[in-house]
Amino acid sequence: MCPAIRTLQLYPLSGREIEWERRISRARANLSKAKPISFNQQVFQLLGMGWADENPDQLSPFVTAIIEKQQANGGWSQLEGLPSDSRATGQAFVALNTVGGVDVADTVYQKGVRFLLRTQYDEGSWFVRSRAWPFQPHFESGFPHGKDQWISAGGTTWAVMALLLTQPKIESVTPVNWMSISFPDEPKESTPAVSARTDWLKGVPRIDFTRDIQPLLERSCAACHGAQAKRKKGKFNITTREHFMKGGQSGVPAVLVGNGNASAIIKMVTDQLEDLEMPPLSKRKNFPPLTLNEVALLKSWIDAGLPW
Ligand code: HEC
Repeated sequence: MCPAIRTLQLYPLSGREIEWERRISRARANLSKAKPISFNQQVFQLLGMGWADENPDQLSPFVTAIIEKQQANGGWSQLEGLPSDSRATGQAFVALNTVGGVDVADTVYQKGVRFLLRTQYDEGSWFVRSRAWPFQPHFESGFPHGKDQWISAGGTTWAVMALLLTQPKIESVTPVNWMSISFPDEPKESTPAVSARTDWLKGVPRIDFTRDIQPLLERSCAACHGAQAKRKKGKFNITTREHFMKGGQSGVPAVLVGNGNASAIIKMVTDQLEDLEMPPLSKRKNFPPLTLNEVALLKSWIDAGLPW
């Protein structure tokens, strides 16, 4: 119903404006009573009502309901109990900002944008796990992420829409004659007001625990220090952030939050501490040492404050 509202507005038929108007207002009344089951429906309920010019007072509880679902990591999830992803997060922002009146300078937005920037892959995409029952094989579109590529493409699109909303708006859009396209000589300057509102974007760390750190810990450390190790070797336990920071039996903290270079753990994984090379030298057949790139990630993660 919601895309239909938008379509009627964007592509009016001359002579039927009054009828369109009536139809949209009937849809509006209907939408406010709907009971969404998924987050996707909840977002489109707000978008549809906003497109149908519902007044801000009526929209307000719907805006709050979406804000309340923001998770501690700044993102939103598609269903209760699932981790945050770029699809639900991008959708939340497009609805909150374009019709819900939530400004990009709002902390709700800032936390979410940090989540999106942290979880983007270097090639530009976002990964979203497919929830479809795999009754048919996927086919290759060329987008990354294998069997999850289709939902990931959608998630990437929503993330890009949400991020674009933090950029200066082009005030008027003149219809483009595609046959004689030319670009303006001078790029439009961003207005100071807007750049000040998005200054906080600078220096946002691009490290994500789940994507960048957890896999390497699981591969090279967890057998001896993780949940599966009944007795944690050297009393070093990596199952929570608190345990991780504390370090092992020597009493030396494993990390100095904010200072990767000075952290004991970096010395251990780069074999600078004799007899505390990690993973232990004799076990590297089963537990490979960290690559240079992984050491750099571990360092930036500590520098960024050990986001867990
Ligand atoms: C095969 C088992 C094994 C693996 C895999 C392993 N460790 Fe250890 N780790 C040990 C043992 C054994 C000790 C105790 C060494 C000692 O105190 O002499 C220890 C101790 C530690 C300590 C505590 C040192 C202290 O101050 O007491 C840290 C920190 C540590 N390991 C980090 C890591 C990290 C990070 C990884 C993965 C990159 C890793 N370990 C992988 C066996 C392992």
